[in-house]
Amino acid sequence: MSGIFEGKVALITGGSSGIGRATALAFAAEGARVAIGARREAEGQETVRLVEQKGGEALFVPTDVSIPEQTERLVGSAIERWNRLDFGINNAGIEGTPFVPVTDYSIEVWDHVIDVNLRGMFLAMKYEVPHILKQRGAIVNVSSVAGLIGGPGGCAYYASKHGVIGLTKAVAMEYATAGVRVNAVCPGVIRTEMAERFWKGKEGIVDGLHPMGRAGTPEEAAAAILWLCSPHASFITGQAVPVDGGVTTR
Ligand SMILES: NC(=O)c1ccc[n+]([C@@H]2O[C@H](COP(=O)([O-])OP(=O)(O)OC[C@H]3O[C@@H](n4cnc5c(N)ncnc54)[C@H](OP(=O)(O)O)[C@@H]3O)[C@@H](O)[C@H]2O)c1
Repeated sequence: MSGIFEGKVALITGGSSGIGRATALAFAAEGARVAIGARREAEGQETVRLVEQKGGEALFVPTDVSIPEQTERLVGSAIERWNRLDFGINNAGIEGTPFVPVTDYSIEVWDHVIDVNLRGMFLAMKYEVPHILKQRGAIVNVSSVAGLIGGPGGCAYYASKHGVIGLTKAVAMEYATAGVRVNAVCPGVIRTEMAERFWKGKEGIVDGLHPMGRAGTPEEAAAAILWLCSPHASFITGQAVPVDGGVTTR
């Protein structure tokens, strides 16, 4: 395989399905070697198999991103295998259910969502940045349209995704002169396991939410992530880029 990321290494959290798996395949198609971390072993190994099937190189490390030792081990495994890290794609996330008003919202669900969606992103960058600095690489954090606008029922999800954007901007400013760009993407509804869980039976509503009249695909989200890591986005940092079929323009 050859492409714009030939010789480079990308780390993708939540690479066992959905946007993370599509991103692993997109980076591998451009020549990058990919390390993925997620909790489900079989699904993670399936991503490795799909990458290898296309002639790429991948590594899966069972990881819960909310646990510092595990996220540190994921980064360490990529370095041990390939001795470099160019890109951090911090994508692991959960929606947190049930979606109910704040007064009924479970404290345990709140803590879990914040731990995975926000603490997990902080931990990933904490361990990735020293290596990415050496390559003057890039980071993309997966937020959501829920990081840009509010909505009822999922206070922890909205708060965590807004937090991801704040975290992204802060870290982008820390490394702006060091050649490391840090951005976020904010997908609208993307057809993944998460969307299937959340929107099952409401596909018509989902299509109607998007001015483009449809939900997005994991490949469309991956393409935006890839672009933000590429030299084509060389003057872009600290941004939260909607990939949402127009949802946030309404
Ligand atoms: N689909 C949408 O409509 C949509 C819209 C906006 C934003 N997003 C965001 O996109 C990201 C990817 O979601 P998706 O839509 O691709 O859904 P998905 O298919 O459910 O993927 C979520 C990924 O996160 C991983 N994950 C969850 N908890 C984890 C943990 N504690 N440690 C490590 N990995 C964990 C999952 O792997 P394991 O279960 O194997 O751990 C899985 O690989 C999420 O951050 C989500 O909030 C999705």
